[in-house]
Amino acid sequence: MIFSEILKNRRSIRSFEDKAVPPEIINSIINDSILAPSAGNEQPWKFIIINNKDMINRIAAESKKNLLERIASNPNHSAKKYEKMLQNDSFDIYYNAPTVILILGDAGLKHTNVNCALAASYLMMSATSRGLGTCWVAFGTEIYDPQMIEELGIPENYKIIAPIAIGYPTKIPDIPHRNEPQIIKVIN
Ligand SMILES: Cc1cc2nc3c(=O)[nH]c(=O)nc-3n(C[C@H](O)[C@H](O)[C@H](O)COP(=O)(O)O)c2cc1C
Repeated sequence: MIFSEILKNRRSIRSFEDKAVPPEIINSIINDSILAPSAGNEQPWKFIIINNKDMINRIAAESKKNLLERIASNPNHSAKKYEKMLQNDSFDIYYNAPTVILILGDAGLKHTNVNCALAASYLMMSATSRGLGTCWVAFGTEIYDPQMIEELGIPENYKIIAPIAIGYPTKIPDIPHRNEPQIIKVIN
């Protein structure tokens, strides 16, 4: 796939085939993701790969519960518009993806969010180039249960920055509307 095709086909995928992703492909995608730049080459990322359906359901339920609690206690919460959707028991925040990759970042470093977002971007493009689909699911960051954090193996001082659903897409949607780029000025 040429690069412009990767960019076009890298869509947020919300419907996956019931087909596992081979572990060697997941490893290749993660190896591609760490080619991303990072401030001072700090590479503050770590990865957790979850293929276990029960575990995916559990982290999804934990995130949903926490998010709904936060929305209930703050009507101005940015996710308020998703409240109804999240309350629906049949709504799976990971869209039945066979695999979820959590990209974690070192919480003590200044540029962690940006660096991990770059790794996530590389990861999503690498997946696309291999015929896979991804969706960055910010809802999935809301994991606070200490036992679950331990079970997942999230090291102390690391935070979840990019939960990514990954699998074979049932179809690749059209590009959602993009605003024209606002080039403020060209200074020659
Ligand atoms: C930081 C971030 C968080 C996102 N969180 C979610 C999410 O929780 N659930 C979801 O379905 N999509 C999520 N998305 C996907 C966006 O909705 C999607 O990128 C946007 O609608 C544009 O569509 P495209 O990715 O196909 O270009 C997220 C994307 C980003 C970059």
